Amino acid sequence: MNAIIEKINAAIADAEVKASAAADAAAIEALRIEYLGRNGLFPALSKEMGTVAPEERKDTGRAFNMGRNRIQELIDTAADRLAASGSGNAEHLDLTLPGRRWKAGHKHPVTIVADECVAVFRRMGFIVADGPEIEDIYHNFDALNTPQDHPSRDPQDTFYFNDGRILRTQTSPVQIRVMESNEPPVRIVAPGRVYRRDTPDATHGMNFHQIEGLYIDKNVSLADLKSVLQTFATEMYGPKVKIRLRPHFFPFTEPSVEYDFSCIMCGGKGCPVCKHSGYIEIAGAGMVDPAVLKNVGYDPEVWSGFAFGLGIERLAMLRYRIPDLRLLYENDVRFLEQF
Ligand code: DAH
Repeated sequence: MNAIIEKINAAIADAEVKASAAADAAAIEALRIEYLGRNGLFPALSKEMGTVAPEERKDTGRAFNMGRNRIQELIDTAADRLAASGSGNAEHLDLTLPGRRWKAGHKHPVTIVADECVAVFRRMGFIVADGPEIEDIYHNFDALNTPQDHPSRDPQDTFYFNDGRILRTQTSPVQIRVMESNEPPVRIVAPGRVYRRDTPDATHGMNFHQIEGLYIDKNVSLADLKSVLQTFATEMYGPKVKIRLRPHFFPFTEPSVEYDFSCIMCGGKGCPVCKHSGYIEIAGAGMVDPAVLKNVGYDPEVWSGFAFGLGIERLAMLRYRIPDLRLLYENDVRFLEQF
């Protein structure tokens, strides 16, 4: 027996151990490279064949072929074993692995707050109404007692289409649409998007959201309005919030008020958010002007009521302590994920 045959026998013994221990495809490939690969043992031995004495060539050649076949066989058997158990196969399907979940996302903070507002008003007996965002000028202005020479109709203040329609500047036209198609009493809230040609800053945007409210019945007074608004404030921001009504002017209400919440940030003591006044302006409101009731065919001698319009972004900013309204529209998930 010569040195080459000894090396072949040792290689077979060694390969048998390694092949039965191989636990994955990489181990089997390593085995192949070690013995049969281009720089492996067998190609190297075949070069040594020339040094073998002529009388030993036959036996050595046979041992070489047998050894090489044996190692190939060991490799094939190990590969079959792994395939049968599944672990060597890259496409093996493990049915016990958990699935990949869809990231479902959630409602936008403006929608969350709008839904909360609507829920509060529904508990007080209001139902939800809706109107078009592309509105005609009659519903957006004239019917709301806002004649053509009123400053809020300045064409530069809003978005007009050539056919006389506009992107609604307020949700108040929904009041008109509801009264035109319903007999009193009426108790509605109408959440929705409105548009104005405003220069965006921390508290203004070119589009934003309002909730309109309208309550028409017999013998409705400003005291009813005040109690509804106070209840809304308490439900949204807790028992400590006070409301304050200030005289104001809106064409479609008489008297008109603006109403403020005591500052949720500082509790009314005064801080930068409320500009040290202790109060934050939330919305406009008032008793529906008799001229508006006449426009929709309601008898102002019989029916009276109040209306209000809330800015939803303002309410969301207070709820979540958001310092700048523009954050709500940048669609940065790092911001939106927090709600
Ligand atoms: N529409 C008004 C605005 O956008 C808000 C408003 C004020 C609505 C008084 C009302 C109201 O219903 O009665 O500024």
